[in-house]
Amino acid sequence: MIEKTLVLVKPDGVVRGLIGEIIRRFEVAGLKIVGMKMNHITPDFAKKHYFAHTEKDFYPELEKRITSGPVIAMILEGIKAIEVVRKIVGLTDSSKSGPGTIRGDFGHVNLGYKGTKNLVHASGNLDEAKKEVELWFKKEELFGYKTLYEKHIEED
Ligand code: RTP
Ligand code: MG
Repeated sequence: MIEKTLVLVKPDGVVRGLIGEIIRRFEVAGLKIVGMKMNHITPDFAKKHYFAHTEKDFYPELEKRITSGPVIAMILEGIKAIEVVRKIVGLTDSSKSGPGTIRGDFGHVNLGYKGTKNLVHASGNLDEAKKEVELWFKKEELFGYKTLYEKHIEED
């Protein structure tokens, strides 16, 4: 099933110069970038994005981090994209995330920030993905195109 999912390079990933490295990991895994932009979100927008967490004890720290600087937002498309992207990102707690995942490879230096500096956000399930794609991107900001790889498959 072809799905769309939202990925954010969080402010801590942007300031560490990891935008390219993080995007590369999705690209080489065969995910298609169908939308991309830089945004510095407000606390109001953060509450919309993380509405499921606003009552949790870690929320103030989470909001502070996600609004501390610009993020890169992208919509990735592919077969089982939601699950595949989450695997590439790793577990919420970077210290428990395996090597080879984005959080496991780069997040270990962020212990002591109550788990809120974990470099990337990715939609957790189909319902979340649908809501988040709509919240972050207008229809006209998403693009349909065929990758060279897809074209080659069609020619087989
Ligand atoms: P995300 O939504 O950012 O992709 O992360 P996630 O699905 O892996 O984790 P989620 O449970 O949705 O939590 C959202 C973000 O809140 C911070 N968090 N801190 N201290 C804590 O127990 C805690 N739990 C979550 C993390 O920044 C997490 O990415
Ligand atoms: Mg989540």
